[in-house]
Amino acid sequence: MKIVVIQGPNLNLLGLREPSVYGPIKLEDIHNQMKNVADQNQVEIEFFQSNFEGELVDRIQECLGDADGIIINPAAYTHTSIAIRDALSAVKLPAIEVHLSNIHQREEFRHKSLTAPVCAGQIVGLGPMGYHLAMIAMIQILGELQAIQEAQRKAKDEKPTNNLE
Ligand code: DQA
Repeated sequence: MKIVVIQGPNLNLLGLREPSVYGPIKLEDIHNQMKNVADQNQVEIEFFQSNFEGELVDRIQECLGDADGIIINPAAYTHTSIAIRDALSAVKLPAIEVHLSNIHQREEFRHKSLTAPVCAGQIVGLGPMGYHLAMIAMIQILGELQAIQEAQRKAKDEKPTNNLE
């Protein structure tokens, strides 16, 4: 099982950037916590951050056939990027959108997410804990999907064949 964590613009500055909004914790510390959860659950995890929309689109596309789930904070692109939304929609992998701040309590232009409708769920306003909760949720979702796929495979194997051939 592999989860890819994709972080949008300016999240590389966490810790320095508006600490009253985003808190004092660095991105690296958030990723270390996520890695611990992944290790405890024998899940592979990869992290990617970019300030460029096209690089985020490329990284989402690279998940096709390589990853099982995506945890994404598209940051400012949440509110503007049809391209990121379309990429998430195209790869058809379960995705969870995370925002450190409560985007609904902030300026009106942050209230709308173009990406949330193509995600399994959205976690907002819980700070770094949001990423931890996204990990727990994603592991649960992937476990359930795996169980469904195994049951379908088993049902197919056990399907009686007709004897007409
Ligand atoms: C953010 C919220 C966005 O509105 C903002 O542009 C960000 C960070 C968050 O995690 O709270 O860069 O995605």
